[in-house]
Amino acid sequence: MKLLLTNIKELVQVREVAPNKVSGADMKTLPTLKNAFLYVENGRIANFGNMADMPEYAGFKTIDCTDKMVLPAWCDSHTHLVYAGNREQEFVDRIHGLTYQEIAQKGGGILNSAKKLQETDETELYEQSAARLREVMRLGTAAIEIKSGYGLTTEAELKMLRVAKKLGNHYGITVRTTFLGAHAVPSEFKNDKAGYIDLICNEMLPKVASEGLADYVDVFCEDGYFSVADTERILSEAKKYKLIPKIHVNQFTALGGIQAAVDHDALSVDHLEVLTEADISALKDTNTMPVALPSCSYFLGIPYTPGRQLIDAGLPLALATDYNPGSTPSGNMNFVVSTACIKMRLTPEEAINAATINGAYAMGLSDSHGSITKGKIANLIVTKPIPSYGFLPYAFGSNLIDLVFIKGKEVS
Ligand code: NIG
Ligand code: FE
Repeated sequence: MKLLLTNIKELVQVREVAPNKVSGADMKTLPTLKNAFLYVENGRIANFGNMADMPEYAGFKTIDCTDKMVLPAWCDSHTHLVYAGNREQEFVDRIHGLTYQEIAQKGGGILNSAKKLQETDETELYEQSAARLREVMRLGTAAIEIKSGYGLTTEAELKMLRVAKKLGNHYGITVRTTFLGAHAVPSEFKNDKAGYIDLICNEMLPKVASEGLADYVDVFCEDGYFSVADTERILSEAKKYKLIPKIHVNQFTALGGIQAAVDHDALSVDHLEVLTEADISALKDTNTMPVALPSCSYFLGIPYTPGRQLIDAGLPLALATDYNPGSTPSGNMNFVVSTACIKMRLTPEEAINAATINGAYAMGLSDSHGSITKGKIANLIVTKPIPSYGFLPYAFGSNLIDLVFIKGKEVS
Protein backbone atom coordinates (compact mmCIF):
# COMPACT_ATOMS: atom_id res chain seq x y z
CA MET A 1 0.00 0.00 0.00
CA LYS A 2 1.36 3.38 -1.04
CA LEU A 3 0.36 6.92 -0.15
CA LEU A 4 1.68 10.33 -1.12
CA LEU A 5 1.03 13.62 0.67
CA THR A 6 1.94 16.67 -1.40
CA ASN A 7 2.19 20.45 -0.96
CA ILE A 8 2.35 20.14 2.83
CA LYS A 9 2.53 23.67 4.19
CA GLU A 10 4.77 22.48 7.05
CA LEU A 11 5.88 18.96 7.94
CA VAL A 12 6.39 18.98 11.69
CA GLN A 13 8.78 17.01 13.94
CA VAL A 14 11.10 16.01 11.11
CA ARG A 15 14.10 14.09 12.42
CA GLU A 16 16.60 12.60 9.99
CA VAL A 17 17.99 10.61 12.91
CA ALA A 18 15.46 10.46 15.69
CA PRO A 19 16.60 10.89 19.29
CA ASN A 20 14.92 8.49 21.72
CA LYS A 21 13.75 11.51 23.76
CA VAL A 22 14.34 15.25 24.00
CA SER A 23 15.19 16.98 27.26
CA GLY A 24 15.53 20.43 28.77
CA ALA A 25 16.41 23.27 26.40
CA ASP A 26 16.35 20.89 23.40
CA MET A 27 12.59 20.63 23.84
CA LYS A 28 12.28 24.18 22.50
CA THR A 29 13.38 22.93 19.08
CA LEU A 30 10.79 21.36 16.83
CA PRO A 31 12.36 20.74 13.42
CA THR A 32 10.06 21.27 10.43
CA LEU A 33 10.18 21.30 6.66
CA LYS A 34 8.10 23.80 4.67
CA ASN A 35 6.42 23.05 1.33
CA ALA A 36 7.06 19.34 1.72
CA PHE A 37 5.99 15.94 0.45
CA LEU A 38 5.74 12.69 2.39
CA TYR A 39 5.70 9.25 0.82
CA VAL A 40 4.44 6.13 2.61
CA GLU A 41 5.03 2.52 1.60
CA ASN A 42 3.79 -0.57 3.46
CA GLY A 43 2.67 1.49 6.43
CA ARG A 44 6.09 3.10 6.94
CA ILE A 45 7.50 6.53 6.14
CA ALA A 46 9.54 5.80 3.02
CA ASN A 47 10.59 9.29 1.98
CA PHE A 48 9.98 12.99 2.57
CA GLY A 49 11.54 16.25 1.49
CA ASN A 50 10.94 19.53 -0.30
CA MET A 51 8.33 19.55 -3.04
CA ALA A 52 11.02 20.80 -5.43
CA ASP A 53 12.98 17.57 -4.84
CA MET A 54 10.06 15.14 -5.04
CA PRO A 55 10.83 12.10 -7.22
CA GLU A 56 8.36 11.02 -9.94
CA TYR A 57 5.71 9.15 -7.99
CA ALA A 58 2.64 7.91 -9.83
CA GLY A 59 -0.17 5.45 -9.79
CA PHE A 60 -1.45 5.59 -6.23
CA LYS A 61 -3.43 7.66 -3.75
CA THR A 62 -2.21 11.27 -3.50
CA ILE A 63 -3.54 13.78 -1.00
CA ASP A 64 -3.02 17.47 -1.61
CA CYS A 65 -2.14 19.16 1.72
CA THR A 66 -2.07 22.78 0.55
CA ASP A 67 -2.31 25.12 3.61
CA LYS A 68 -2.25 22.09 5.94
CA MET A 69 0.28 20.85 8.51
CA VAL A 70 1.35 17.22 8.86
CA LEU A 71 2.56 15.91 12.23
CA PRO A 72 3.39 12.52 13.70
CA ALA A 73 0.26 11.25 15.44
CA TRP A 74 0.01 11.61 19.23
CA CYS A 75 1.60 9.02 21.53
CA ASP A 76 -0.59 8.77 24.65
CA SER A 77 1.55 6.97 27.23
CA HIS A 78 -0.91 6.88 30.16
CA THR A 79 -4.55 5.83 29.97
CA HIS A 80 -7.14 3.69 31.72
CA LEU A 81 -9.25 3.48 28.56
CA VAL A 82 -10.70 0.06 29.40
CA TYR A 83 -13.41 0.66 31.99
CA ALA A 84 -17.11 0.04 32.50
CA GLY A 85 -19.83 2.67 32.79
CA ASN A 86 -18.99 6.14 34.06
CA ARG A 87 -18.79 8.17 37.28
CA GLU A 88 -20.94 11.12 36.29
CA GLN A 89 -22.61 11.12 39.70
CA GLU A 90 -19.24 11.66 41.44
CA PHE A 91 -18.62 14.58 39.10
CA VAL A 92 -21.84 16.16 40.35
CA ASP A 93 -20.91 15.32 43.97
CA ARG A 94 -17.67 17.23 43.48
CA ILE A 95 -19.58 20.21 42.10
CA HIS A 96 -21.55 20.12 45.36
CA GLY A 97 -18.33 20.31 47.35
CA LEU A 98 -17.02 16.80 48.02
CA THR A 99 -13.35 16.23 47.20
CA TYR A 100 -11.99 13.38 45.07
CA GLN A 101 -10.44 11.86 48.21
CA GLU A 102 -13.67 12.18 50.23
CA ILE A 103 -15.60 10.39 47.48
CA ALA A 104 -13.03 7.58 47.49
CA GLN A 105 -13.22 7.26 51.28
CA LYS A 106 -16.99 6.74 50.99
CA GLY A 107 -16.44 3.72 48.72
CA GLY A 108 -16.72 5.69 45.48
CA GLY A 109 -13.82 6.33 43.17
CA ILE A 110 -11.75 3.41 41.94
CA LEU A 111 -13.81 0.90 43.98
CA ASN A 112 -16.99 2.17 42.32
CA SER A 113 -15.44 1.51 38.88
CA ALA A 114 -14.14 -1.88 40.04
CA LYS A 115 -17.64 -2.97 41.04
CA LYS A 116 -19.03 -1.92 37.66
CA LEU A 117 -16.21 -3.63 35.79
CA GLN A 118 -16.54 -6.90 37.69
CA GLU A 119 -20.24 -6.97 36.78
CA THR A 120 -19.59 -6.30 33.07
CA ASP A 121 -18.85 -9.24 30.80
CA GLU A 122 -15.83 -9.21 28.53
CA THR A 123 -17.75 -8.60 25.28
CA GLU A 124 -19.61 -5.62 26.73
CA LEU A 125 -16.38 -4.24 28.24
CA TYR A 126 -14.74 -4.57 24.83
CA GLU A 127 -17.58 -2.72 23.08
CA GLN A 128 -17.60 0.16 25.57
CA SER A 129 -13.82 0.50 25.37
CA ALA A 130 -13.73 0.20 21.57
CA ALA A 131 -16.06 3.20 21.25
CA ARG A 132 -13.59 5.27 23.29
CA LEU A 133 -10.64 3.99 21.29
CA ARG A 134 -12.29 4.86 17.97
CA GLU A 135 -12.91 8.38 19.26
CA VAL A 136 -9.29 8.96 20.33
CA MET A 137 -8.00 7.56 17.04
CA ARG A 138 -10.07 10.15 15.19
CA LEU A 139 -8.55 12.76 17.52
CA GLY A 140 -5.06 11.82 16.34
CA THR A 141 -3.80 9.20 18.80
CA ALA A 142 -1.98 6.32 17.11
CA ALA A 143 -0.11 4.70 20.01
CA ILE A 144 -1.62 4.25 23.42
CA GLU A 145 -0.82 2.70 26.78
CA ILE A 146 -3.76 1.07 28.57
CA LYS A 147 -3.72 0.02 32.22
CA SER A 148 -5.65 -2.54 34.20
CA GLY A 149 -6.57 -1.53 37.76
CA TYR A 150 -10.37 -1.49 37.76
CA GLY A 151 -10.57 -5.25 38.20
CA LEU A 152 -8.91 -5.73 41.58
CA THR A 153 -9.58 -9.48 41.41
CA THR A 154 -7.31 -11.78 39.44
CA GLU A 155 -10.02 -12.65 36.93
CA ALA A 156 -11.17 -9.07 36.39
CA GLU A 157 -7.62 -7.74 36.04
CA LEU A 158 -6.88 -10.38 33.39
CA LYS A 159 -10.16 -9.53 31.65
CA MET A 160 -9.15 -5.87 31.36
CA LEU A 161 -5.74 -6.70 29.93
CA ARG A 162 -7.23 -9.17 27.42
CA VAL A 163 -9.63 -6.47 26.25
CA ALA A 164 -6.79 -3.95 25.88
CA LYS A 165 -4.76 -6.44 23.81
CA LYS A 166 -7.75 -7.34 21.63
CA LEU A 167 -8.39 -3.66 20.91
CA GLY A 168 -4.84 -3.25 19.62
CA ASN A 169 -5.11 -6.34 17.43
CA HIS A 170 -8.45 -5.34 16.00
CA TYR A 171 -7.88 -1.64 15.34
CA GLY A 172 -4.23 -1.79 14.25
CA ILE A 173 -3.24 0.95 16.72
CA THR A 174 -0.14 0.25 18.82
CA VAL A 175 -1.29 -0.68 22.33
CA ARG A 176 1.09 -1.14 25.28
CA THR A 177 -0.45 -2.70 28.36
CA THR A 178 0.27 -2.11 32.04
CA PHE A 179 -0.73 -4.25 35.01
CA LEU A 180 -2.07 -1.92 37.74
CA GLY A 181 -3.45 -4.41 40.26
CA ALA A 182 -2.18 -2.02 42.96
CA HIS A 183 -4.60 0.75 42.02
CA ALA A 184 -6.67 0.57 45.22
CA VAL A 185 -7.22 -1.91 48.05
CA PRO A 186 -10.49 -3.72 47.27
CA SER A 187 -13.24 -3.76 49.92
CA GLU A 188 -12.72 -7.49 50.60
CA PHE A 189 -9.22 -6.61 51.82
CA LYS A 190 -10.24 -3.38 53.59
CA ASN A 191 -8.43 -4.35 56.77
CA ASP A 192 -5.80 -6.52 55.15
CA LYS A 193 -3.80 -4.52 52.65
CA ALA A 194 -0.84 -6.88 53.12
CA GLY A 195 -3.12 -9.76 52.09
CA TYR A 196 -4.05 -7.95 48.89
CA ILE A 197 -0.40 -7.24 48.09
CA ASP A 198 0.28 -10.96 48.63
CA LEU A 199 -2.47 -11.73 46.12
CA ILE A 200 -0.89 -9.32 43.63
CA CYS A 201 2.56 -10.86 44.10
CA ASN A 202 1.64 -14.53 44.39
CA GLU A 203 -1.27 -14.84 41.99
CA MET A 204 -1.88 -11.84 39.76
CA LEU A 205 1.68 -11.09 38.64
CA PRO A 206 2.51 -14.73 37.74
CA LYS A 207 -0.74 -15.08 35.73
CA VAL A 208 -0.38 -11.73 33.95
CA ALA A 209 3.18 -12.68 33.04
CA SER A 210 2.51 -16.26 31.97
CA GLU A 211 -0.32 -15.13 29.70
CA GLY A 212 1.93 -12.36 28.28
CA LEU A 213 -0.71 -9.75 29.00
CA ALA A 214 1.41 -6.80 30.17
CA ASP A 215 4.49 -4.87 29.16
CA TYR A 216 4.64 -2.76 32.32
CA VAL A 217 3.69 -2.70 35.99
CA ASP A 218 2.16 0.27 37.79
CA VAL A 219 1.31 1.13 41.42
CA PHE A 220 -0.77 4.03 42.74
CA CYS A 221 1.82 5.25 45.28
CA GLU A 222 -0.23 7.63 47.40
CA ASP A 223 -1.52 8.24 50.93
CA GLY A 224 -4.53 5.97 51.48
CA TYR A 225 -3.52 3.69 48.59
CA PHE A 226 -0.02 2.13 48.45
CA SER A 227 3.01 3.31 50.43
CA VAL A 228 6.55 3.60 49.11
CA ALA A 229 7.40 0.32 50.87
CA ASP A 230 4.36 -1.41 49.27
CA THR A 231 5.42 0.01 45.91
CA GLU A 232 8.97 -1.25 46.28
CA ARG A 233 7.77 -4.73 47.19
CA ILE A 234 5.53 -4.93 44.11
CA LEU A 235 8.19 -3.53 41.79
CA SER A 236 10.80 -5.99 43.08
CA GLU A 237 8.39 -8.87 42.53
CA ALA A 238 7.40 -7.61 39.06
CA LYS A 239 11.05 -7.42 38.06
CA LYS A 240 11.19 -11.23 38.22
CA TYR A 241 8.74 -11.23 35.32
CA LYS A 242 10.59 -8.48 33.45
CA LEU A 243 7.73 -6.04 33.93
CA ILE A 244 9.13 -2.51 33.77
CA PRO A 245 7.66 0.08 36.17
CA LYS A 246 5.54 3.06 35.15
CA ILE A 247 4.29 4.58 38.38
CA HIS A 248 1.40 6.79 39.54
CA VAL A 249 3.22 9.03 41.99
CA ASN A 250 3.07 12.49 43.64
CA GLN A 251 -0.53 13.16 42.59
CA PHE A 252 -1.59 14.52 45.97
CA THR A 253 1.42 13.86 48.21
CA ALA A 254 5.19 13.69 47.88
CA LEU A 255 6.10 10.49 49.71
CA GLY A 256 9.50 9.75 48.19
CA GLY A 257 8.04 7.45 45.57
CA ILE A 258 9.97 9.09 42.74
CA GLN A 259 13.33 8.07 44.19
CA ALA A 260 11.99 4.54 44.68
CA ALA A 261 10.75 4.43 41.07
CA VAL A 262 14.10 5.64 39.76
CA ASP A 263 15.89 3.05 41.92
CA HIS A 264 13.74 0.39 40.22
CA ASP A 265 14.61 1.73 36.74
CA ALA A 266 11.08 2.98 36.06
CA LEU A 267 10.43 3.92 32.45
CA SER A 268 8.19 6.75 33.62
CA VAL A 269 6.81 8.48 36.69
CA ASP A 270 3.37 9.91 36.07
CA HIS A 271 1.22 12.70 37.60
CA LEU A 272 3.80 14.71 39.64
CA GLU A 273 1.34 17.46 40.52
CA VAL A 274 3.14 17.82 43.88
CA LEU A 275 6.93 17.89 43.55
CA THR A 276 9.80 18.63 45.94
CA GLU A 277 13.32 19.72 45.04
CA ALA A 278 14.48 16.25 46.11
CA ASP A 279 12.06 14.67 43.62
CA ILE A 280 13.45 16.82 40.80
CA SER A 281 17.03 15.95 41.78
CA ALA A 282 16.12 12.26 41.90
CA LEU A 283 15.08 12.43 38.23
CA LYS A 284 18.28 14.05 36.96
CA ASP A 285 20.64 11.89 34.89
CA THR A 286 18.22 8.95 34.87
CA ASN A 287 16.34 7.13 32.12
CA THR A 288 12.98 7.78 33.81
CA MET A 289 10.57 10.01 31.89
CA PRO A 290 8.40 12.42 33.92
CA VAL A 291 4.84 12.38 32.54
CA ALA A 292 2.34 15.19 33.12
CA LEU A 293 -1.42 14.69 32.84
CA PRO A 294 -2.89 18.19 32.61
CA SER A 295 -6.46 17.08 31.79
CA CYS A 296 -6.58 15.40 35.21
CA SER A 297 -5.56 18.67 36.92
CA TYR A 298 -8.17 20.49 34.86
CA PHE A 299 -10.98 18.09 35.72
CA LEU A 300 -10.16 17.71 39.44
CA GLY A 301 -9.09 21.32 39.98
CA ILE A 302 -5.77 20.23 41.47
CA PRO A 303 -2.35 21.82 40.79
CA TYR A 304 -0.75 21.33 37.39
CA THR A 305 2.52 19.42 37.19
CA PRO A 306 5.30 22.05 37.23
CA GLY A 307 6.33 21.18 33.70
CA ARG A 308 8.09 24.49 33.15
CA GLN A 309 10.27 23.84 36.20
CA LEU A 310 11.06 20.27 35.12
CA ILE A 311 12.13 21.35 31.63
CA ASP A 312 14.11 24.30 33.00
CA ALA A 313 15.90 21.83 35.27
CA GLY A 314 17.12 20.08 32.12
CA LEU A 315 14.70 17.16 32.36
CA PRO A 316 12.54 15.69 29.59
CA LEU A 317 8.74 15.74 29.88
CA ALA A 318 6.00 13.69 28.23
CA LEU A 319 2.31 14.58 28.08
CA ALA A 320 -0.53 12.04 28.27
CA THR A 321 -4.28 12.07 28.85
CA ASP A 322 -4.84 9.72 31.85
CA TYR A 323 -8.20 8.87 30.18
CA ASN A 324 -10.28 7.27 32.98
CA PRO A 325 -13.80 7.52 34.43
CA GLY A 326 -12.87 9.25 37.71
CA SER A 327 -10.25 11.93 37.27
CA THR A 328 -10.09 12.44 33.48
CA PRO A 329 -13.04 11.36 31.36
CA SER A 330 -11.31 12.58 28.20
CA GLY A 331 -8.80 11.00 25.85
CA ASN A 332 -8.24 14.11 23.78
CA MET A 333 -4.50 14.69 23.28
CA ASN A 334 -5.20 17.97 21.46
CA PHE A 335 -6.72 19.36 24.64
CA VAL A 336 -3.72 18.04 26.62
CA VAL A 337 -1.28 19.86 24.32
CA SER A 338 -3.29 23.11 24.59
CA THR A 339 -3.64 22.86 28.35
CA ALA A 340 0.09 22.21 28.78
CA CYS A 341 0.76 25.49 26.95
CA ILE A 342 -1.96 27.47 28.70
CA LYS A 343 -1.57 26.18 32.25
CA MET A 344 1.96 24.76 32.46
CA ARG A 345 3.63 27.42 30.31
CA LEU A 346 5.10 25.02 27.78
CA THR A 347 5.77 26.49 24.36
CA PRO A 348 3.98 24.83 21.42
CA GLU A 349 7.32 23.27 20.43
CA GLU A 350 7.83 21.79 23.90
CA ALA A 351 4.26 20.53 24.12
CA ILE A 352 4.40 18.86 20.69
CA ASN A 353 7.75 17.21 21.55
CA ALA A 354 6.22 16.04 24.83
CA ALA A 355 3.16 14.53 23.10
CA THR A 356 5.07 12.80 20.29
CA ILE A 357 8.68 11.69 20.69
CA ASN A 358 8.69 11.80 24.50
CA GLY A 359 5.33 10.07 24.68
CA ALA A 360 6.78 7.36 22.46
CA TYR A 361 9.75 7.02 24.84
CA ALA A 362 7.38 6.56 27.79
CA MET A 363 5.99 3.49 25.97
CA GLY A 364 9.36 2.17 24.81
CA LEU A 365 8.42 3.06 21.23
CA SER A 366 10.87 5.80 20.20
CA ASP A 367 12.46 3.57 17.56
CA SER A 368 9.24 3.35 15.57
CA HIS A 369 6.94 6.19 16.70
CA GLY A 370 6.85 9.87 17.55
CA SER A 371 8.67 11.60 14.68
CA ILE A 372 8.77 11.97 10.93
CA THR A 373 11.76 9.74 10.28
CA LYS A 374 12.36 7.33 7.40
CA GLY A 375 11.47 3.78 8.41
CA LYS A 376 9.16 4.82 11.25
CA ILE A 377 5.51 3.77 11.22
CA ALA A 378 3.36 6.17 9.17
CA ASN A 379 1.16 7.43 12.00
CA LEU A 380 0.18 10.89 10.83
CA ILE A 381 -2.09 13.82 11.55
CA VAL A 382 -3.11 16.06 8.65
CA THR A 383 -4.58 19.30 9.98
CA LYS A 384 -7.24 21.49 8.47
CA PRO A 385 -5.87 24.66 6.82
CA ILE A 386 -4.17 26.56 9.71
CA PRO A 387 -1.62 29.38 9.79
CA SER A 388 1.03 27.57 11.87
CA TYR A 389 1.51 24.57 14.16
CA GLY A 390 1.27 26.96 17.14
CA PHE A 391 -2.35 27.50 16.12
CA LEU A 392 -3.11 23.95 17.35
CA PRO A 393 -2.67 24.70 21.09
CA TYR A 394 -3.78 28.32 20.63
CA ALA A 395 -7.21 27.56 19.20
CA PHE A 396 -8.09 25.23 22.08
CA GLY A 397 -11.43 23.51 21.80
CA SER A 398 -11.52 23.56 17.99
CA ASN A 399 -11.07 20.29 16.18
CA LEU A 400 -8.35 21.19 13.70
CA ILE A 401 -7.68 17.65 12.53
CA ASP A 402 -8.65 16.82 8.99
CA LEU A 403 -7.26 13.31 8.55
CA VAL A 404 -5.49 10.70 10.68
CA PHE A 405 -3.40 7.84 9.32
CA ILE A 406 -2.40 4.83 11.40
CA LYS A 407 0.19 2.55 9.80
CA GLY A 408 -0.47 4.45 6.58
CA LYS A 409 -4.18 3.67 6.66
CA GLU A 410 -6.77 6.42 6.97
CA VAL A 411 -8.87 6.35 10.13
CA SER A 412 -12.47 6.74 9.07
O1 NIG B 1 -4.56 8.41 37.25
N1 NIG B 1 -4.80 8.29 40.43
C1 NIG B 1 -5.08 7.14 40.21
N2 NIG B 1 -5.70 6.64 39.16
C2 NIG B 1 -6.41 7.38 38.17
C3 NIG B 1 -7.80 7.74 38.53
C4 NIG B 1 -8.55 6.65 39.10
C5 NIG B 1 -10.02 6.90 39.23
O2 NIG B 1 -10.44 7.89 39.87
O3 NIG B 1 -10.75 6.09 38.70
C6 NIG B 1 -5.62 8.61 37.79
O4 NIG B 1 -6.03 9.76 38.02
FE1 FE C 1 -3.76 7.35 35.77
